[in-house]
Amino acid sequence: MTVIAVFNRKGGVGKTTTALNLLAGIAQRGVRPFGIDLDPQAHLSGVFDTHPRLADDSVYGFFMGQRPLADVAHISASGVIICPAHLELTKLDTLLGKGVNVITRLRVALKKADQAPGPVVIDTCPLLGVLSLNAIFACDLLLVPVSADFLALQGAQQVERALRALEPVFKRRLPRRYVLTRFDARRKMSSEVADLMAIAFRPDEICKTRIAENVSLAESPARHLDIFRHAPQSQGAQDYKALVEELVGTGFIA
Ligand SMILES: Nc1ncnc2c1ncn2[C@@H]1O[C@H](COP(=O)(O)OP(=O)(O)OP(=O)(O)O)[C@@H](O)[C@H]1O
Ligand SMILES: [Mg+2]
Repeated sequence: MTVIAVFNRKGGVGKTTTALNLLAGIAQRGVRPFGIDLDPQAHLSGVFDTHPRLADDSVYGFFMGQRPLADVAHISASGVIICPAHLELTKLDTLLGKGVNVITRLRVALKKADQAPGPVVIDTCPLLGVLSLNAIFACDLLLVPVSADFLALQGAQQVERALRALEPVFKRRLPRRYVLTRFDARRKMSSEVADLMAIAFRPDEICKTRIAENVSLAESPARHLDIFRHAPQSQGAQDYKALVEELVGTGFIA
């Protein structure tokens, strides 16, 4: 079981789009993936139409009420298991603090094999609080989408600095990949950001796959669909298929 967390300190860079289509791409390989929505905005849960009324029926119940993850999980129409988020998650930082036992709660739960048998994909919010720290500590791979703009690059560099600061705690270099999203070859800024990424990050930690700016990717969540079911012939579907294959090729997805 591999745990992939999708995170960037900048909002709106394509985290949820990437989490959604990674889950779908993994499901297409005949494996049942496990999605965990750790963003109080609950966008990923919304796409899967799993919006619990009660906070306790979301991952909030897992963090606060000691409910097993499997207890709050739903199976979507596309065969993805999803643990939904809830707005109440915004209170977790105040309620729980950031003690070691708090930020490793998800990691400990996922280590119990029956909690999540397949590959796990975690969507996060842009804040480096208790939820994102749980994602970082639980993951085998941190995937950092960088939409092709300068602030998204700055957000990714903040992630890199945070990971370096956490390295003594991990006692290893946490595997990470930076993936350029919303890439538009006609825009000078897109190639400038790509060039700056090549300077900012280790070459082997930048995904070869780039996700192009693609209107089908923007449309599909509103239709409660992933890109493969919404527009299977689109550039977006091709790009996310290539990203899944790249992660398979590097051994992060079986
Ligand atoms: N490759 C793309 N082409 C076109 N639109 C995209 C692409 N990727 C994402 N979008 C759109 O950009 C917006 C932000 O994407 P998304 O919600 O995935 O970002 P996010 O990082 O999860 O945001 P937040 O920080 O608010 O959770 C959405 O409207 C989404 O549909
Ligand atoms: Mg999001």
